[in-house]
Amino acid sequence: MMMRNLVLASAPIALLAAFAPSAAAARGETAATVEIEAGQPGPKIDRHIFGQFAEHLGTGIYGGIWVGPDSKIPNVRGIRSDVVGALKAIKVPDVRWPGGCFADEYHWRNGVGPHRRSTVNANWGGSIEPDTFGTDEFMDFIHQIGSDAYVSVNVGSGTLEEASDWMAYMTADQRSSAGADRAANGHAEPYTVKYVGLGNESWGCGGNMRPQYYIDLMKRYARFTRNYNPAQQGDTNPNAMQRIAVGPTDDDAAYTEAVMEAWSKRDWSWSIEGLSLHSYTVPHWPPSLPSVGFGEDDYASILQATLTMEQKIAKHSAIMDKYDPDKKVALVVDEWGVWLAENPGSPKGFLQQQNSMRDAIVAALNFNIFARHADRVRMANIAQMINVLQSLILTDGPKMLLTPTYYIHQMYLPFQDATFVPVKFDAGEYRHGQVALPKIDAVAVKATDGKLYLSLVNLDPAAGSTVRVTLPQGRFGKANGQVLTAPNVNSVNTFEQPNTVTPRPIAGKVAGGVMTIDLPAKSVAMVALER
Ligand code: AHR
Repeated sequence: MMMRNLVLASAPIALLAAFAPSAAAARGETAATVEIEAGQPGPKIDRHIFGQFAEHLGTGIYGGIWVGPDSKIPNVRGIRSDVVGALKAIKVPDVRWPGGCFADEYHWRNGVGPHRRSTVNANWGGSIEPDTFGTDEFMDFIHQIGSDAYVSVNVGSGTLEEASDWMAYMTADQRSSAGADRAANGHAEPYTVKYVGLGNESWGCGGNMRPQYYIDLMKRYARFTRNYNPAQQGDTNPNAMQRIAVGPTDDDAAYTEAVMEAWSKRDWSWSIEGLSLHSYTVPHWPPSLPSVGFGEDDYASILQATLTMEQKIAKHSAIMDKYDPDKKVALVVDEWGVWLAENPGSPKGFLQQQNSMRDAIVAALNFNIFARHADRVRMANIAQMINVLQSLILTDGPKMLLTPTYYIHQMYLPFQDATFVPVKFDAGEYRHGQVALPKIDAVAVKATDGKLYLSLVNLDPAAGSTVRVTLPQGRFGKANGQVLTAPNVNSVNTFEQPNTVTPRPIAGKVAGGVMTIDLPAKSVAMVALER
């Protein structure tokens, strides 16, 4: 039996002994216990762990967000309204743009003003990048969905002057030529740029740089990509721009060590506020596992791979603690998600894949890992928002569907800016062949609405679990929420059948300070505990 997240010294033996098997257990299903320790609240779970990533890649931007003002698809200034509505509903905290590898070949001037210059998107299928969706369109999109901008500047193939001019275009007022140019393009007020990425994967597609070479460059970008917006000035300003440096990939700590060591020796002239971690769930490279029609072998190996996020974050956090015990620099997991084989017949390099109930479980497990590391992981951006990799939304011309991963984001809304509440639980075991995984995962939070929420995940694809939750002291009388499950772990939503995987209500029984809930096989539940 695996014990996870142990907060108390010993297992609640008495509770285990007192547990009477329910009807579910009688059907051969298992039982689990969870104990909520509300007296020891943890850190705030930053809502930015639910951030998004939208790259100029395949139909992520063109078709997914941008249809143009003349399109028959309902839009506001070229940005499709159905997508905006869906994203507003999940309170997207930030969107990272324009890449990814694309960012290190992006030249922003091609995408502003009345005369756009098209280019070749060399990273992603050699498609033509029309540059009709540029800085002003991105900021309009961000504004329409009510989100923060996370702009990645081009360190790989651009110049420092170009990046610095871009910041001026976005944030300076009209007394400067850059601000006047922006005003002439239709936006008089400076934009708010909350986050700036100083390159992307500089150890790989961003220029394959030695850590020290990157650090020398990065210090200059950290200093000179200035934000001029009057509303973002001052170190203690909560709205001040945060600079995110390139950090590690997976468990390779070379960049973590080098960048954090450099940061620990910084002087007044530069700093960073975040270090990026990229880690995809991909058991074998290149990605070859199908996104539809897979069996339990693939299911178990993907879940096993995704759970290694825990060790990766722990490893990089420990290194960061060495140089930054006060946790000033955030670990920003700004690319994560399941990377599978491209849909058969889809354009090569567009990274189009379906999204299944299995991927919803992956999303929930990762959110739970980020929540457990909330003191260091203060932002994460799933790759990617629409039509690319582990998407929340798929579009096909005028059609749009919400994926199982979208619904996890919706169900986890109470986690945004909530306070982590420790839980102790016996995870049990789900075993398939050589793969042994915890069967149950659990995280509790005190949300900003004052309620206690419990996320429960059942990884077992075949057997449900009756979960008995010892509640903190206080009178809890109700336990209601939503559960996401599906006929199979490989169930997906399609344009023909968009509602195969959608949340439905679930309720627990509360009596004598204990909540009992029947968790279906392959499910994620989010339950509000109320007095
Ligand atoms: O998300 C797809 C690609 O994966 C990004 O462009 C790159 O940063 C990463 O390697």
